[in-house]
Amino acid sequence: MIALLDKLYAQHDLTKEEIIFLLKNLDEEHKNVLFDYAHRTRMKYYGNKVFMRGLIEFSNICKQDCLYCGIRVSNKKVERYRLTPDEIIDCCKEGYRLGYRTFVLQSGEDFWYTEEKLINIVKNIKKLFSDVAVTLSIGERSLSVYEHLFKAGADRFLLRHETASKRLYEKLHPTMNYENRINCLKGLKEIGYQVGAGFMVGLPGQTAEDLAEDLYFLKELNPDMIGIGPFIPHSETPLRDADGGTVEDTLVMLAFVRLLVPDCLLPATTAMGTLHPKGRELALKVGANVVMPNLSPIGVRAKYELYENKICTGDEAAHCRQCIEKRINSAGFEVDMGRGDSLQSQKKA
Ligand code: 5AD
Ligand code: FES
Repeated sequence: MIALLDKLYAQHDLTKEEIIFLLKNLDEEHKNVLFDYAHRTRMKYYGNKVFMRGLIEFSNICKQDCLYCGIRVSNKKVERYRLTPDEIIDCCKEGYRLGYRTFVLQSGEDFWYTEEKLINIVKNIKKLFSDVAVTLSIGERSLSVYEHLFKAGADRFLLRHETASKRLYEKLHPTMNYENRINCLKGLKEIGYQVGAGFMVGLPGQTAEDLAEDLYFLKELNPDMIGIGPFIPHSETPLRDADGGTVEDTLVMLAFVRLLVPDCLLPATTAMGTLHPKGRELALKVGANVVMPNLSPIGVRAKYELYENKICTGDEAAHCRQCIEKRINSAGFEVDMGRGDSLQSQKKA
């Protein structure tokens, strides 16, 4: 086992079979070796910096019906909201004042925000702040919309693949199509975005083989960013009675990803902070190097409920900014308020 971990550390590569073997046989001792190798790799590639992104959840209206998600169209209990373009810009202004230089605009798949509206929002942000990066996380659109938004100034796009297992993907996404998801990701990359993919850990029916598939898929796609979090069941979804993912299993996947895609940006996700009071700090210690504090207006925070008990729903943006810095420092790292471009994209530039 140690030989495989050493190979992973030295070459950043393993076969799918080797990954499956490790996932099935990792004991405490070897897990600690894995975590240590992941941390060293992070230090080698990115140092002790943690990049900050201001997250703006601008609409919880969604036409999709993902079985795990609290804002799926079938959930009639969630109170829906949309921020106007002006309200979105106001969030960015507040974020800029607090020092953020990346804004992540996230929403459900809400076509009220037409191509034209989105282009205007992106252009306005880029006109107001010449030194910020704009990240979109708005789900699936046509490649031509993606292209026009990129031309308007969007720098990055987050679209988790959710699971690389076609069987699982189709079970969990009754209104969506696996091939289309993958095509979106490949198209976004070709257009020139810094692309974020990623998956959930502990989905119902997810096996070690499925998780190895996720790791292998990411190795091949080689995205700039990789978002990984535990699945957390939501009581107003069909998966209400399922077991959720664990912090421990998610940490193992984060460490694997840091080792397999060493130059990627890896967020310590809010879902980790929700499952465990020190969840994000633990993630930072096994290779994660990004956090995404919330900039959404307090009044809508709780409504963007992908899963329940989400943290920070009552905290002002300024409070999160300070809270997270303390946490980062306590874990032994330092905040970096710069744009935080991926190493891959810096090499291309
Ligand atoms: N638990 C954990 N993560 C979830 N997401 C959506 N619903 C849940 C849930 N119940 C994740 C998806 C999505 C991201 C924004 O949030 O991976 O891509
Ligand atoms: Fe929001 Fe800690 S990050 S309160």
